[in-house]
Amino acid sequence: MGKIHAAITGIGAFLPDYRLTNEEISSMVDTTDEWIMQRIGIKERRILKESGKATSDMGVAAVQELLEKTNTSPEEIDLLICATITPDRPFPATANIICRKAGLHNAWSYDISAACSGFVFALTTGASFVETGKYKKVVIVGADMMSAITDYTDRSTCPLFGDGASAVLLEPTLEDVGVIDHINYTDGKGRHYLHIKAGGSKRPASFETIENREHFVHQDGQTVFKYAVSRMADVAVEIMEKNQITPDKLAWLVPHQANMRIIDAVARRMKIDPKQVMINIQKYGNTTAATIPLCLNDYEKQLKKGDNIILAAFGAGFTWGSVYLKWAYNS
Ligand code: UT7
Repeated sequence: MGKIHAAITGIGAFLPDYRLTNEEISSMVDTTDEWIMQRIGIKERRILKESGKATSDMGVAAVQELLEKTNTSPEEIDLLICATITPDRPFPATANIICRKAGLHNAWSYDISAACSGFVFALTTGASFVETGKYKKVVIVGADMMSAITDYTDRSTCPLFGDGASAVLLEPTLEDVGVIDHINYTDGKGRHYLHIKAGGSKRPASFETIENREHFVHQDGQTVFKYAVSRMADVAVEIMEKNQITPDKLAWLVPHQANMRIIDAVARRMKIDPKQVMINIQKYGNTTAATIPLCLNDYEKQLKKGDNIILAAFGAGFTWGSVYLKWAYNS
């Protein structure tokens, strides 16, 4: 028997209705639409405003749309992996809550914490389960409610992030489509440059940590920027060379959406045409684990069976990685 590949056979997504525009951000901190567009490239982001709603609720909506689109019943799912850094609570896993709320009663589930590389790491992991032949239907969710950990008094971080969720279904195939290869890396030295300072075992929550605003995202933007460009481009080129994908054979690059300047620099280093790059950062901002599947969802109708697609991500940790996949269906 030939090798079993894990193919993405459907996508679902959820975006909250509320649009936080650059104009509104300019009324909260000392910034302008012009600065944000020039330095980041984000026009607006979606924010989950309803009280009591959390990451799992966005994940459930994405999974429900996915099941409906693929005509799959919730009981058929074997495993669900949720990539997130904004779980509903420190524990239990948000994946467990999504399964319960979406009726995935036969699935076991867990979370993966890899920040902006979360979807790439979770897809790699889920594909490995499918490739064993034991798992027939695996759901990968990328979901983050970044508004819960964004400091809206800090102009250097608050324009960057948004909320959203997206989910893909992985199924086995013997055809030459699906996840073909993946290369992932982590380097814990990055922990100093992009992190939440408190709320974990190293620095539990206290009045002091709250007063110091230590439960929000902090980053050394310039250092993260430099690493993001070089690591994301290097790993994408590495996977292309390893699989003999020259720029003319590539249909799409799907980069993590953190900053338009990072995306442009990565595409230049890969020597690919800007038309080959999926971009939706202007509409949603950086939704962390959700950016890559939200791109696939937005571009789904343009994708054709057999398209060579490279996913590339970089995030806190540092974490970075790339997946080479051949698209498995025509919409
Ligand atoms: O997915 C991984 C997660 N994160 C990232 O990938 C983010 C990577 N980093 C970045 O995208 C960029 O570093 C930022 C967008 C965060 C910042 O852009 P930058 O070009 O690196 O700006 P900077 O931090 O070097 O700041 C330049 C100036 C500073 O003013 P001075 O010191 O030169 O007077 C900042 O205070 O821009 C100022 N500044 C702002 N001005 C207007 C910073 N944020 C703003 C703002 N509006 N929102």
